[in-house]
Amino acid sequence: MNAIPRSLLPDSAEAHDGRLFVGGVDTIELAAEYGTPLFVYDEEQIRSRCREAVSAFGDGVAYAAKAFLTTAMARLVSEEGMHLDVATSGELFVALNAGVPAERIVHHGNNKTVPELAMTLEAGTGRIVVDSFDEIDRIEGLVADGAAPPKVLVRVTPGIEAHTHEYLQTGIADSKFGFGLATGDAAAAVVRIRESEAMGLVGIHAHIGSQVYDVESFRKAVETLAGFVNPLDLPELSIGGGLGVAYVTGEEAPSITEWAESVHEAAADAGVTARVLAEPGRAIVAGAAVTLYTVGTVKEIPGLRTYVSVDGGMSDNPRPSLYGSGYEAFLPRSVDAERPNHVRIVGSHCESGDIIVADAAVPDDLTVGDVLATPVTGAYGHSMGSNYNMFRRPAVVFVRNGTAHLVVRRETHEDLIRRDA
Ligand SMILES: Cc1ncc(COP(=O)(O)O)c(C=O)c1O
Repeated sequence: MNAIPRSLLPDSAEAHDGRLFVGGVDTIELAAEYGTPLFVYDEEQIRSRCREAVSAFGDGVAYAAKAFLTTAMARLVSEEGMHLDVATSGELFVALNAGVPAERIVHHGNNKTVPELAMTLEAGTGRIVVDSFDEIDRIEGLVADGAAPPKVLVRVTPGIEAHTHEYLQTGIADSKFGFGLATGDAAAAVVRIRESEAMGLVGIHAHIGSQVYDVESFRKAVETLAGFVNPLDLPELSIGGGLGVAYVTGEEAPSITEWAESVHEAAADAGVTARVLAEPGRAIVAGAAVTLYTVGTVKEIPGLRTYVSVDGGMSDNPRPSLYGSGYEAFLPRSVDAERPNHVRIVGSHCESGDIIVADAAVPDDLTVGDVLATPVTGAYGHSMGSNYNMFRRPAVVFVRNGTAHLVVRRETHEDLIRRDA
């Protein structure tokens, strides 16, 4: 029995006559109507994860926009009561343009430019997470020029090794992010900000890494941070995002509720009086989406391998080529089919590393023209996508209660030359 596990499919997934329906909508019909590649999001699942986050952490918990951001997503998150974490002026623009109230935005970034800081100060962003002494200088300069002093958190690198990919570790001392605890920079930043009239210190922030399965890593981070934050008597402690999700058969990840429970327990044990907040991205959206592709070619190399090429690739999901991330694949026309064959699913880019699933179990009747799906593609696919090889970026649909809403249209060839001078 190696059909695609239902636990990897969106919550609303159902099979009707063997075909995958998400949000009450036939995915094969979606592929026909909107074309492929296509991101299909179970809207109710995103909403329910947002509600779970709000109930687990309370008001102030933020969705990390970098995982997946569109105007519709910014609105949805806001409607469900989450704040929004942005990491660039572009994400800030999308959020503000979507109508997210500025006071519910948290602004991150290790190299916020003067224009970016000016934009966020002018908008009245609720929290700026200060990342460097240079940034403190810049905020002071802008406030001296008339901007209103912001509320800030200090981003700290606590020296915690989260068990994840090297490029996904952000809390270790050797990091481009934040102020080191061990070096004394974090303490120096607190002193400087407290002496400054250009900003008000409301908390400490740390993000130990991404795709972290082990709540122990978060417990350790809270324990380490407690020693720093408790004597400061600050109202907020954000432990960032980073909760992992299951991508392939056999993986298991804690729920947002379990994550919050263990973090709160660690905080209580360590005598933390600050409110503990978080900013999950992946855990809110990853599992809500499947990507639909069309199989274009099947190349068998006897005794070696079979390559199945689809009409997307590293431009809609760069994670396998960036981090060697694993995914599964299945055929939405027969969602519960056994998958006895092993193939490599590759994209259409001019790169041998353009791999979507390095070793995919697939049904033995997979054929050219099939719609093929990869589940758990809701985070860091669309948002990290590119126009490499002048690919037109895919459309995104939200499905719910039997209805599909196009939230991002597919790019056209004309879009590809729109910025050319
Ligand atoms: C500061 C910060 N917060 C939140 C997140 C979201 O992480 P995730 O999507 O893994 O929850 C990230 C991811 O890189 C981050 O850098």
